[in-house]
Amino acid sequence: MQQVYITKNGGYDVLQARDSDDPRPGPGEVRIAVKASGVNFADIMARQGLYPDAPPKPCVVGYEVSGVVDALGSPIAAGTELHKNQDQAPALNIGDRVFAITRFGGYASRVCVPAMQVFPMPAQMSFEEAAAIPVNYFTAYLGMFFQGNLKAGESFLIHSAGGGVGLAAIHLAQTISDVQIFGTASSGKHAFLQDLGVQHLIDYRTQDFEAEIARRTNGRGVDLILDAVGGDSFMKGYRSLAPLGRLVMFGMSTVSGANIFRVLKTFLTLPKFKPMSLLDQNKGVFGLNLGHLWDEIPRLRGIGLELIDLYTAGKIKPYISKTFSLAEAGQAHRFIQERKNTGKVLLLVD
Ligand SMILES: NC(=O)c1ccc[n+]([C@@H]2O[C@H](COP(=O)([O-])OP(=O)(O)OC[C@H]3O[C@@H](n4cnc5c(N)ncnc54)[C@H](OP(=O)(O)O)[C@@H]3O)[C@@H](O)[C@H]2O)c1
Repeated sequence: MQQVYITKNGGYDVLQARDSDDPRPGPGEVRIAVKASGVNFADIMARQGLYPDAPPKPCVVGYEVSGVVDALGSPIAAGTELHKNQDQAPALNIGDRVFAITRFGGYASRVCVPAMQVFPMPAQMSFEEAAAIPVNYFTAYLGMFFQGNLKAGESFLIHSAGGGVGLAAIHLAQTISDVQIFGTASSGKHAFLQDLGVQHLIDYRTQDFEAEIARRTNGRGVDLILDAVGGDSFMKGYRSLAPLGRLVMFGMSTVSGANIFRVLKTFLTLPKFKPMSLLDQNKGVFGLNLGHLWDEIPRLRGIGLELIDLYTAGKIKPYISKTFSLAEAGQAHRFIQERKNTGKVLLLVD
């Protein structure tokens, strides 16, 4: 099989495709012949040495794949009756089309995954769409519905609205009636996002989002914010919350590419939220890290099954920005880092 290694911390050229032996599935695992593998911002941070959860280098990252089951460890139940139960592994057979959450190893032509992390694909779902679901949609779903409790008639701000999580969040917000969507994004993505139904677009490079939200809401603020930009964006978002508003912090893309001094300064100046201020101001603050939920797989399974239902009902549709081959992983990273993507970036395996 082929795997793409991050050989050391560095630029795009530290990503190198190498041949290795095929892995063998252990008990309760399936092996997937990968068709598509999701590229995530965490992978870029891992390559830059800014992602503490990354395995030691040299390493193969990749949190999600789609493909075809091509080997089964034992015991995997046969049949189809367990597909809808979040507490049990699905029945899987060789040849099944599936997508999966992988704890690294996704940048590869084959990967072994515990069956509990594998989801059978509906017939009409493409491999590209399937690989775009786990990280982006699970994260958006957790932030918006488990923590943020987004309800009909509320207002919602998503930062980096044109990215993978951003588009997933927009689709999910549109499954709730009358949600007013605010989004920050580079200006080149605004027309696309407007067509998608985002009512309030803010170009964070030329506009101050806090001032824009205050202006567009007559000073009230928004009910829910999902923020993975980080740094001073967290406190600006906190100040932009309406009474009973919720801020979900789930990333720090602002430090990507920064030198060590700016990284340190950004972390040292992060806001310290005080219980009495939260209490007095009727605001809530959450932290979210999908990569720290490995002990909550049944709950993630439940979300995956819900997302499959939403997809089948035509309510969500992952949007693919661009695809690259495994050997082009460095170019895929560059494409995201240069902020060119609108939607998901994937590595495809022939
Ligand atoms: N905690 C979690 O569990 C979790 C899970 C998934 C993702 N995340 C985080 O969520 C954020 C978005 O992830 P994603 O998968 O949606 O990203 P993505 O699809 O790779 O989108 C990247 C976009 O982010 C924007 N961006 C903002 N700051 C940037 C920077 N410093 N360098 C490059 N691009 C920057 C750019 O769009 P614009 O220029 O249009 O803004 C860029 O196109 C990342 O911070 C990621 O780490 C966290």
